[in-house]
Amino acid sequence: MDPTSWIKKYETERYVYTKDVNQFVVELTEGLTPGTAIDLAGGEGRNAVWLAEKGWQVENIDFAQNALDKCALLAKERGVVAKVLTTCASALDFTSQLAPVDLVLVAYLHIYSHQFAVAMQNAVAALKPGGTLMGVWHALENIQHNSHGPQNPDTLPSVESLTELCHGLGLRVQVCENRDGFVRTDEGPKPSVTVILLATKPI
Ligand SMILES: C[S@@+](CC[C@H](N)C(=O)[O-])C[C@H]1O[C@@H](n2cnc3c(N)ncnc32)[C@H](O)[C@@H]1O
Repeated sequence: MDPTSWIKKYETERYVYTKDVNQFVVELTEGLTPGTAIDLAGGEGRNAVWLAEKGWQVENIDFAQNALDKCALLAKERGVVAKVLTTCASALDFTSQLAPVDLVLVAYLHIYSHQFAVAMQNAVAALKPGGTLMGVWHALENIQHNSHGPQNPDTLPSVESLTELCHGLGLRVQVCENRDGFVRTDEGPKPSVTVILLATKPI
């Protein structure tokens, strides 16, 4: 796996995925007490910086250094530089500066399923006992609906595949469901099914 295409995508001053936190991250974070967090494959940092604004100490781990540079700029803009760390590394093999943490967020990491399983295993390993794994992805069902987002089914999680993966990793699944909605694209809003996950690592 190679970050080249991602680095190319981020070579613009524009925030490709906007500076706005994902609505499901806001929803799933409700009720959690701020602590330490890893945003795995956090890109330009829209979610990491929002978490920092809410009082979390966050580490954005992504393999595209220019995305992390944009994350650091956004943190500065929002006055939370001290609360946002960045680590340029692969989700398949990283050493975290903050682990073990209270929360790992994985948002829109669409990679082949065998690699995804390794990334999720690493996410769980970086959690404290009692910690929370939170995730948001384009769902497999998008393919059937001819929707926006990745088109290779092997890179698209479903409620079933995530539940099975989480159980295999020893997690307690609290929320794993599809949500209908829209994603912003260059051609305007497009319908999209999102799968969301909230799971805890047993104490
Ligand atoms: C669709 S973007 C989502 C970024 C961010 N999570 C968000 O929601 O705005 C996917 C991100 O995954 C990162 N990525 C993909 N494969 C990765 C890997 N193996 N290790 C680390 N980061 C990876 C890319 O660099 C990119 O920033």
